[in-house]
Amino acid sequence: MLRNLRSYLLVALLIALYALSKFTKITDGLEKYYEMMDDADKNANKVFLDPPQKSSNQKKGRPTPGVADAYDFTKSKWLPSKTNCMKSPTGMIFLKKHKTASTTFRHMLSKYARFKGLPSVGEPQIIGPQGGCYPARFDERCWPATGHSTPIVALTYHFRWNMDLFEEKFLTSGVASVTTIRDPETTFRSVYNYYYLNHAGKVSKCDMPCWGEPFRSFNNGREDLPVGEYLDNLPKLFNASETRNFRSKNYQAFEMGMDHLNDNTASILRNLKRLDQHNFDFVVLTEYYYESLVMLAKLFCLPYEVLYEPQLNKREYEIEPLTPNQKKNFESYFKADIMLYDYFNKSLHYKIEDYGREKFYEEVDKLKAVYAKCEEDVEHCMWKKPPKMTASDLNIKAIQGEKMKVQDFIDLMDENFGWCSNPYNPYTQMKIWQKTGKMTYSDECNYKQDILNNFEL
Ligand SMILES: *[C@@H]1O[C@H](CO)[C@@H](O)[C@H](O)[C@H]1NC(C)=O
Ligand SMILES: *[C@@H]1O[C@H](CO)[C@@H](O)[C@H](O)[C@H]1NC(C)=O
Repeated sequence: MLRNLRSYLLVALLIALYALSKFTKITDGLEKYYEMMDDADKNANKVFLDPPQKSSNQKKGRPTPGVADAYDFTKSKWLPSKTNCMKSPTGMIFLKKHKTASTTFRHMLSKYARFKGLPSVGEPQIIGPQGGCYPARFDERCWPATGHSTPIVALTYHFRWNMDLFEEKFLTSGVASVTTIRDPETTFRSVYNYYYLNHAGKVSKCDMPCWGEPFRSFNNGREDLPVGEYLDNLPKLFNASETRNFRSKNYQAFEMGMDHLNDNTASILRNLKRLDQHNFDFVVLTEYYYESLVMLAKLFCLPYEVLYEPQLNKREYEIEPLTPNQKKNFESYFKADIMLYDYFNKSLHYKIEDYGREKFYEEVDKLKAVYAKCEEDVEHCMWKKPPKMTASDLNIKAIQGEKMKVQDFIDLMDENFGWCSNPYNPYTQMKIWQKTGKMTYSDECNYKQDILNNFEL
């Protein structure tokens, strides 16, 4: 244990030294920068000093491979100084994560696509608002039967990231990739209300998310357990074999393609590094809304007005702060999400320093000024659409796919916490279809048509 601790400290020290040697290149705002990095290094140490997990198969006393430079943001996929902005993109991938302001950002990015004259051949979902066979990692068998194009022009619906597949096939040059993350505790409260409390006593006739789960099953069917009580009892209630259990454990890491049940610090860090260096050009932090918008504008070479979205009225909720015990349980079940948020916060702040902090905040002020004008009169944020490029301009081929086998879908759901016993969930309906040859959806639910279009028995 002690030997382990010592080697962890050594690794942390090496990182700190390495980081310092890298960062001395930057001359702008140097002092503030070091202050910030000191904080960052303290946090990095904190992360490293977590007790090693029992399940860990690393040899004792050796530094863990692949994590020593996990916080080296000079290697990020996109930096404002290092990489050119996307002057002539061919496409974009927006991972639309749940409960993280992703609808707003999806709107913004579709405006970006229009501004660049990209052809309107966004990827259609396979059922309802999602695709890729969520909550399985994106699987190519799950493209809808028609409408898929390659390379990707716009993939912007709800799906679960797949690092191997995306790195290998989708993230070609000219395709930008972005997602949004949000403070883990706020996100969890929102998840708990949305999927569970707000749906108490309701049966949806068109059920995509498997409403109520996993909280309803964890509570033996009870539908109104307050969030504080839930968190107090989380270690007793949580069942890692239950459907949708990821909503109560590392939900954000899960949607970004990580294994939500793996709490091994080194493994989490390796994945975060991979996401930062090879997968996402930029990760929006909703708590840094304006900073994130300026970054997006820099990434995509956009005038600020293109990304303008009217601010919806924010509802303020009275929230009961968590007790120490609730907080402790939350932190243990959302360890990867907390690390993820902290990691991309550091990444964002590194990008700000890389741009030059003072200069950057002048840009933030400019953006706010533009938006204030647009708030008064939306005319200020109108821009002229360029002529649209066609698919052939960009060498985009439409793929004529096949219908997916219902059994393959069911298997993917069974293997990835995606099964559901609610009567009008596609999983349930496809099982009924298999058994009786008919689904029992009413015509008001368009999932039936999606299923008929894209699946076969
Ligand atoms: C955990 O969930 C699985 C899947 O629903 C279930 O079969 C199992 O009985 C549950 N375990 C407990 C202890 O409730
Ligand atoms: C993000 O990082 C900055 C700089 O290190 C820090 O001051 C700030 O508190 C962090 N924000 C959050 C929400 O963690």
